[in-house]
This record gives sequence, C-alpha cells and structure tokens, in this order.
Amino acid sequence: MNSQQWLSYYQNNRNHRPEPKWNLPSSLDDRTQHFLAHSLSHFQLGETGEGKFLLAQARAQAPDDVAYHEALRLFIAEEQEHARLLERLVLRFGGKTIQRHWTHSLFRLVRHALGFKFEIQLLVIAELVGTAYYRLLQARTRDPVLEEACALILKDEAQHVDFHADWFGDFQSRLLPLERAGWGGRFQILFGVARKVAWVDHKAGLVIAGANRRQFFQEARRECIRFLQRLQRNANQPAADEVIAQTAAS
Ligand SMILES: [Fe+2]
Ligand SMILES: [Fe+2]
Repeated sequence: MNSQQWLSYYQNNRNHRPEPKWNLPSSLDDRTQHFLAHSLSHFQLGETGEGKFLLAQARAQAPDDVAYHEALRLFIAEEQEHARLLERLVLRFGGKTIQRHWTHSLFRLVRHALGFKFEIQLLVIAELVGTAYYRLLQARTRDPVLEEACALILKDEAQHVDFHADWFGDFQSRLLPLERAGWGGRFQILFGVARKVAWVDHKAGLVIAGANRRQFFQEARRECIRFLQRLQRNANQPAADEVIAQTAAS
C-alpha cells in the first residue's frame, strides 16, 4: 500500500468541496420527508465518532507507517464531514439527529471487541452498504439538495473503499491461499448480515424514496464485488515493505 499517495489524496480532497445549496426548496411531501429524516438520522449517527480507538490500534499495529496514520485520521475527518452533511439533511426534512441507536451500539461493541483488522473490515462493510443506500436515494428521490449531498458523499466513499482495499491487499499478500479464502468467506457472511440489518433499519426510508429490497441488495452486492476484486488485485502484488526490502537487498 502506498500510504504517502493516500495521504496526498486525503490532503487534496479537503480542498474545493462544493457546498449543497441548502436553501433550495424541497418538493417532497411531508410524509416522505419524515421517513427520510428518520432514516438519514441513523446514518448520521454512524458517520460520527472521533476514531480514537481506531487510530490508537493503527499506531500499535504499524508504528512506523506515519503516513498511514495521518491518512486514517483524514479519512475519519471525512466521515465527520459526511455526518455534518447528513445532519443538515435531517434538519432540512424536519427531523432531529439522534445520540444512540441499537444498530450503532451493536456495531461499536462488535468492532471494538475484535481488534483493528476486524474493525476496518466492519467499516468497509458499512461503507459498501452505505454506498448502496446513498446511490438509491440519489437516483430515486427528487430533491436537488439530497442529490447534491449524496453525490458528495458517494465520491468520497468510493475512495474510502479503495483505501481499505489497498490496506487489506497488503495484509492478504502475506496469507496462504486457504487463509485468504477463509477471510473472504467470513467477510462475505458478515456483509450478508449487515446488508439485511441495514434493510430492516432503512426499509421505510428506501421504500418511500422509490427503491425496493432487490435494488438495495443488488447495489450493495455490486459494491462488495468491486471491493473484493480490488483487494484481490492488490493481494497478488508483493507487500510494500517486501518491495522495499527486495530493493534494498539488490
Ligand atoms: Fe461516510
Ligand atoms: Fe466512508
């Protein structure tokens, strides 16, 4: 993984971020706005968080990869920016942000319990499911501000998934084929569970936006495949530290 390249990406991505035109009126009826606000408030909670645990774990795992730590910090800052955009959307649709929800509590509990790799794995799964959600809202809801905010978030999320795919690619390049297969199987099972939980939680919002279960599952599945393909490409390349070691030895 080229940590320095990712750090540059995140540093540049902080600049020239267009702001949605929050004052544009919405043509959505009150009922639609109500359900969307409720659903968006759950995603808003998911995008908050300071990432202290994650950063501490990353530093403990790879103390020398300072560029990665910094890139990870900027990645967390982008998620906080998404939380800000989502909060404005929730308020636009007459809703309130929330401080806790069982899906969020469960997610936090599980990811903190099982260490850094597991936490990143769950973050990726949340990004894949979130991407499907934002994409369907963007495509199905006739609200210009919601579309703008979703477009901004989706642009970042695509890079977040690639960022984690690069990190996991490095990790997997050190695994035996059977170990890789085991990891991939577990990942896909977790993804399947998360996709179902997300559907239960966001069904009302997605349905009122004009999407259905099949479309949501398909979108999420497409994202999962894209992630696994990128990860596999990276896993088949030698890890960055091995390249450095080989170069130094020759
Ligand atoms: Fe996000
Ligand atoms: Fe993200």
